[in-house]
Amino acid sequence: MATEAQVRESLEAIPVPTVKRSIVAMHLVRQVTTSDNKVNVTLASTGLSEDSQVWVKARTREVLEQLPGVDDTTVEYVDAKAKDLNEIDHIVAVMSGKGGVGKSLVSSLLAIALNRKGQEVGILDADITGPSIPKMFGLNARPSGNETGLLPVLSRSGIEVMSINLLLPGEDDAVIWRGPLIGNTIKQFGEDVLWGKLDYLIVDLPPGTADAPLTLMQSFPISGIVVVFTPQDLVEMIVRKAVNMARKMEKRVLGVVENMSYLYIPELDKRIEIFGRSRGEETARVVGAPLLGQLPIDPELARLCDEGGIERYDGEIVTSLGEALVQAITAAGQ
Ligand SMILES: Nc1ncnc2c1ncn2[C@@H]1O[C@H](COP(=O)(O)OP(=O)(O)O)[C@@H](O)[C@H]1O
Ligand SMILES: [Mg+2]
Repeated sequence: MATEAQVRESLEAIPVPTVKRSIVAMHLVRQVTTSDNKVNVTLASTGLSEDSQVWVKARTREVLEQLPGVDDTTVEYVDAKAKDLNEIDHIVAVMSGKGGVGKSLVSSLLAIALNRKGQEVGILDADITGPSIPKMFGLNARPSGNETGLLPVLSRSGIEVMSINLLLPGEDDAVIWRGPLIGNTIKQFGEDVLWGKLDYLIVDLPPGTADAPLTLMQSFPISGIVVVFTPQDLVEMIVRKAVNMARKMEKRVLGVVENMSYLYIPELDKRIEIFGRSRGEETARVVGAPLLGQLPIDPELARLCDEGGIERYDGEIVTSLGEALVQAITAAGQ
């Protein structure tokens, strides 16, 4: 007779339609009982359309019937809320003092770096004032879902992505929200998306320190904040905003990332600090958090962002960003 562990293992072969991760990884398996030659499995229907429910149920029965000594199976659905099914080890919020400094790019690269280290990763594009994550990853599939949850879209390399942009009728539709609405939308996103079991969720926050999203982010179990800035930003401004943000969210700053730090000219093997002297070390010292990385101005990065191919970027900075973030989280005891 199959054991409960064997049953659970066999269910790992069943993907959630559209997300492609298994029903086990998405935490849809709520209960497994075995007795004599009978197996009962209870699944959450969270985020599954009616067609998907029928398909998953049929696949589950098929898989169970192939187990040794099993000749009677039942598969039932129960309702469950996405937020009760999610199990995310680390939530990292990425902030900037203002727009256009590369916050979304850094959010994407952090997610890509962790994914390349073999971690299960998701990105919540919570910058609903300028949602750009799907474009960088070349995604336009509409997320599917039902009343109890929304399913993220999977990127080419296997990162779960959710963005307001994927839910809008047209990719270029402007999003004009007022503060409270932004707050509510972010909260709803946080609660309604079924991420399943993730090692890391990267949250691309709206720029600046608007109150509504911040207050609501307090209800997310955040590990900490990563601050993105450029050499053009004033150190005092970044520090003030970062400290302000950390205080409001009651979280610590895990690290800082300087973007557009320099331009590298291979022919001369030279770094040119186009936007002025790098402020990386200084900012890190004043914020009191490690400098996780300094990104060059790289035309290849800009091109890949525009083409939706950011996952193809292979600069070595990606690896070091990922390692620095993991180290910072470990050091923070998160
Ligand atoms: N280090 C960089 N090298 C080249 N282009 C960059 C770099 N950082 C940002 N960009 C360009 O700037 C655009 C805006 O960056 P983005 O991450 O969307 O900014 P933010 O989210 O802070 O508004 C990107 O799509 C990319 O084209
Ligand atoms: Mg952005």
